[in-house]
Amino acid sequence: MFAGDDGSPVDLRRRRACDFPFSSRDRGYVGGNSLSQFLASGQLGKSEEIPYALLLGADPSKELVEKYLKSSEIYVARLANEIIGVYVLYPINSEKAEIKNIAVEEKFQGKGVGKLLLEDAFKLAKAKGYKQLIIGTGNSSVGQLYLYQKAGFEMTEIRWNFFIDNYPDPLYEDGIQVKHMIVLSKQL
Ligand code: ACO
Repeated sequence: MFAGDDGSPVDLRRRRACDFPFSSRDRGYVGGNSLSQFLASGQLGKSEEIPYALLLGADPSKELVEKYLKSSEIYVARLANEIIGVYVLYPINSEKAEIKNIAVEEKFQGKGVGKLLLEDAFKLAKAKGYKQLIIGTGNSSVGQLYLYQKAGFEMTEIRWNFFIDNYPDPLYEDGIQVKHMIVLSKQL
């Protein structure tokens, strides 16, 4: 659901595409489900604020986020000009890039936006000439591991104790300590 101009909830499926203004910077509509027809994806503008609230939802270390953002590109999904999703593409070398961070605004989670962001990343990375895309997540992130494998990623590496060694405080998710990073990769 999405709040209308008068504050009343509006079912997105009842909105027409022309109700949503998209900026010329946006690369176009993504996907084919009911929410996706109203989404536009594109690179975050240089003068736009970095969506830290979203990024920190995926990676709680602002220090690490700021470090990888220096060499990354930020792509966002917008709904009526509101940023509701983000992913960060980090080049490792000319053939390989990493999705360092992916996040969807909480109220829009579970509606297929994450899947669309991944599909967008695959197309974009391929168009940029990358042959392989990798993504890492915690040992405890069962839902994320499901999503990434369903999108075609395969587990390739475990970075043992990554979250213990790189984060100041112990992290827990659903009662499981986040210790190791599971790295998954996908050929493009
Ligand atoms: N738990 C269980 N299932 C999940 C989860 C989850 N946390 N996330 C996605 N899925 C499943 C969905 O049920 C759906 O399954 P289906 O295709 O069988 O119907 C499928 O994955 C696609 O789900 P989407 O609706 O596209 O996912 P969503 O829009 O919620 O985005 C995301 C997924 C980005 C993980 C989002 O939930 C989020 O922002 N979470 C908080 C931040 C986060 O954990 N980011 C990833 C950290 S790792 C990294 O950044 C590299």
